[in-house]
Order: sequence, then structure tokens, then C-alpha cells
Amino acid sequence: MMREFDESSITDAVVARMAGASSERARHISEALVRHLHAFVREIRPSAEEWEAGIGFLTATGQKCDDKRQEFILLSDTLGVSTLVDAINNPVTGDVTETTVFGPFYVPPPEFGLGQDMGAAIEGLPMLVSGRVRKSGGAAAAGAIIDVWHSDEAGFYDVQQMDKTGGLAGRGRFIADTDGAFHFWTRRPAAYPIPTDGPVGDMLAAQGRHPWRPEHIHFKITAPGCRPLVTHVFAQGDAYLDSDVVFGVKESLIQPYVVHANAEEVQGRPVNGPWVSLDHTFVLDDQQG
Ligand code: BEZ
Ligand code: FE
Repeated sequence: MMREFDESSITDAVVARMAGASSERARHISEALVRHLHAFVREIRPSAEEWEAGIGFLTATGQKCDDKRQEFILLSDTLGVSTLVDAINNPVTGDVTETTVFGPFYVPPPEFGLGQDMGAAIEGLPMLVSGRVRKSGGAAAAGAIIDVWHSDEAGFYDVQQMDKTGGLAGRGRFIADTDGAFHFWTRRPAAYPIPTDGPVGDMLAAQGRHPWRPEHIHFKITAPGCRPLVTHVFAQGDAYLDSDVVFGVKESLIQPYVVHANAEEVQGRPVNGPWVSLDHTFVLDDQQG
């Protein structure tokens, strides 16, 4: 039995202690964690002060979390881990719509009827969003539940400025009709920086990175017998499409946000100025359940 360890013996010693783990999965995960963490430390050879700073960073990340702010998700997103986990769990299959990161700003939205305005309490150009949801087998996803959320024209979500919006705004739930079709009004969102007033902001600065996400609208779509879809539709031409801070962009998710000249009224709705439209078809995977 060894009771004393050095740089060359410590890793195997820690792994050996896990032989009696509660499950094979727990043993595998624990062993991989120790091996990769030790390899990281061997590579960077931190001073005691640097290791203390690393622990301070993780402590501050936890302390920044509350019921409205999840700094660990932000850390996972900005290190590309969220995109890696998404890629592992949602491989591209046929013409099924590609997924992307969930992000920290989802809350269950209020339900609206088709054609209604979910953006009345936020600022921005009037925007008409339309589309359809179908299954990869070909059928329309009648009655699909479509949750939508996005920022206002200044790049802020309702949950970041409840004092201004007075409640949930720029988010809604819509139920697709019997053809899987839907449409609704909202306000054009904008590109925005993720929150930088915490340790993740400090990390981005230290890494020489900007904090911006390209303009996008989030969609979470579910239908019986289909794999739930969590995705975005990005605005074509946005300056940050090639450098999204959370690595969420996929070519197939970029669409034109079409700007229209002044109109008084569109589909019976007073617009009184320029307005924007977006149309997109979503395909749900009904082959894997
Ligand atoms: C978002 O798009 O809402 C988001 C995603 C990842 C990190 C921060 C925000
Ligand atoms: Fe977003």
C-alpha cells in the first residue's frame, strides 16, 4: 500500500480509490475527470497563487448565480461546452432543423392566439414572423407548441429589465394550426453582448474576446411523437455571425430578416412606418421519438 504520492504517482492513486464507485458510469466519469484535470495541471504547472486564483474564479462564478442569473451556464456557453454537448446529443439527421444552445433567458411564456402581438411591451420595429412546422416523415405538425423568446431593439431580454417591461415581454407561446402553420407579430430584436459584469466577463476580457451574439430569435418547438427542438433563427448579414461568443451559429439557421418600406397597415395591423418579416419552416424529428 502506498500512502505517499508525487507528481508521477498521484493520478493513478486517485483513480484506484474509485474502483468501488456506485456504478460503472460514475466510475468512468470520475476517472476521466481526474485524468483530464491532472493532465491540465501538469500542462500549465500553476503556481500556488495561480491555483488559488482559479479556485477564486469558480467560487465567484457560483456566487454570481441566483434564480435569474446562471453564470455556470454562461461559462459552459462561452467555453464551447454547451455547443459540444448539443452536437453530441443532436447529430444532424436528414432535413431535421438543426439545434443550438438553449441560453439562460428561457422562462415559460404566456400563450397568444395566432396573429397576435407578443411584443407590445418592448421597443423595436414591428416584425411579422411566420412559418410552418412539419415532421421529418413529411406530415404537418398540427398543434405543435411553439415557444418564442428574443431581446428588444437594445439587446435586453424582459427578465433583465422587469422594472422597464413590467413583466414578461418579447416572448410567447403559439399553437400551430392544422397545417402546422403559425404567424405572430413582435418587435425586431438586435445583436447583444452577453452579461459581462461577472467572472465570465472578466474571463472574456483576459482572453481578448468580445461578448457579442448575432441577432436571433429563440424557438423551442414540441409535438407529440417528435424530438423536442431547441433552436434559433439568426439574421442574415449580422456582423457577429462569424464570431458568436457562444459558438451557436449554424449556416442552416441563418435567414433574411426582410425590411419593408413604410406601410400604414399590414394584414389588418396598423404599422405606420417600416416593418420587418421573417418566414421559416421548422422540421421536427419524428423518426427517433
Ligand atoms: C441567448 O441567446 O439568450 C444566450 C445564449 C447563451 C448565453 C447567453 C445568452
Ligand atoms: Fe438570445
